[in-house]
This record gives sequence, C-alpha cells and structure tokens, in this order.
Amino acid sequence: MSLADDLLELAVATAREAGRMLVDKRPADGPDIVQTKSSPTDVVTQMDRAAEQLIVERIRAARPDDAFLGEEGGDQGGGSGVRWVIDPIDGTVNYLYDLPDWAVSIAAEVDGTAVAGVVDIPRRGEAYTAVRGAGALRHTASGTRELRVNSRVPLDEALVATGFGYASGRRARQARVLTGVLPNVRDIRRAGSCCVDLCSLAAGRVDAYYERGVQAWDIAAGGLIVREAGGRVEGLHGAAPGPELTIAAGPGTFEALHDLLAPLDPLGD
Ligand code: IPD
Ligand code: CA
Repeated sequence: MSLADDLLELAVATAREAGRMLVDKRPADGPDIVQTKSSPTDVVTQMDRAAEQLIVERIRAARPDDAFLGEEGGDQGGGSGVRWVIDPIDGTVNYLYDLPDWAVSIAAEVDGTAVAGVVDIPRRGEAYTAVRGAGALRHTASGTRELRVNSRVPLDEALVATGFGYASGRRARQARVLTGVLPNVRDIRRAGSCCVDLCSLAAGRVDAYYERGVQAWDIAAGGLIVREAGGRVEGLHGAAPGPELTIAAGPGTFEALHDLLAPLDPLGD
C-alpha cells in the first residue's frame, strides 16, 4: 500500500468514528453553543470541539510526528511532511438544527499537496473518498461507486450550489452576485455545507459550485474528491481556490461559470 492509501485508511476510520460519535452524542435538545466567531450566527458547539479532539487524538496516536490544521484547533506543527486538514463538522448550523447535511472532513497533505481525503456524511449514510491519481469513490451500505462530475453542462441548464458567509457585509455582496447568477442558471442550491456541496458535484447531483469565504479545512478533502472525479477547483483567473473565491465544476461548465462570475465583482467584503 502507498503512503496515500495508508493515510486514507486512517482518515476513513477516524472520520467514521467521529461521525458516529456526533450522531450518538448529539444532545436531544441540541448542542450547546460555546463560542461565536465572525458573527453571532457563526457558532461553535461543544460537539465541534469534541469531534476535533477525538480526530486529533486518534491520528496522533497512529502518527505522532504529523502536523494539523483544524477549524477549531488551528495550526499544530510536525516534522513528518504530512499535515492533516480537519473540519470536525462542516455544516455546523445544519448540525445545530438537526438537518442532515453536515459532514466530518479530513484530508492528508504530503509536502503541501492533498493526497487523500474523506468526507463522511453520517446522516446520509454516505462517505466520499479520494486518493490523488486514483479517482474518487462514494461508499454506502449498498456498495461503492466511482464518481464522475457532469461535464459541458450549458450554464442555463446547470444546477449550481453555493453558500454564504456569516458576516452581514459579506452576505450583502454575495446576494448582489447571486442576482447576476440566478437568472442565468437552471437553479441554485444552498445545502449548508461546503464539503457536502463538493461531494454532490463529484457525484453529479449538482453541476457546479462557487463560494467566497471558504477556508482550507472546508475544501481540502472535497476539492480532492472533485478533482479526482474529473472536475476543476480554482479561484478567479487561475488563482488557487480558497477564501477569496472557490469555483468548482466539470470541464466546459467551469469556464462558463467562471466567466459569468468574473464581471460580477465577487471579491471584496
Ligand atoms: C460553513 C459551511 C457553509 C458555508 C460557510 C462555511 P462551517 O462551514 O461550509 O456551507 O456556506 O461558508 O463556513 O462553519 O459549518 O464549518
Ligand atoms: Ca466547521
């Protein structure tokens, strides 16, 4: 087995355990909000913290020299050249409201490149995985399926997923951009979890995705899964995807969405 396969195996087992814990231990009356971040609606629950702690503990027990970047725990250095990029709950607001679209996202980077990633979506009974150069898969109780993005979907037939930040000024700009997108596409979906959106794209359940403000932990695993399913994941004008802007779609659709977004001035705020 290659290093990437080994890292994926550890990521899958850890994400599954964290996902199960998040389902089993979610308080019946909802998790406690223990912190707010960029705005009062940008919440951290006790379960985000517990899940990240579990993930870091499990990985560290198996690989003590690796580095970590976690949404809740920040940067922790290591000397092995492997870094784990972790979102313990992507879609925390869905988790808070007991909506099913939230996920545990874990990616492993070697020397700065994502080589393995898993997005575990416990309430859907689905896990998505990818190893760099070896394709992307969806695993369910009924089996495993190789994933392929939809390609060359004309924009006016494209179902486009997007998301919004938590800060009011950012949202006002995102709403303005959306008024330029919505009349030109089949429709918009706002599921509430960036990595679930990216997996939906990889599986052909949506045709494209874009969002301003997503962080490394939101896109590390899902971005690899989209690429391994044949899609492009980039920013504007060939920039790397990231907080400034992330656009993801299959060939043909990507270029069309990019060219629709660019003049809408999606950056800023
Ligand atoms: C959020 C989700 C949401 C996206 C936000 C993210 P979080 O992540 O991915 O879909 O629109 O930009 O911050 O806060 O639930 O981990
Ligand atoms: Ca999160």
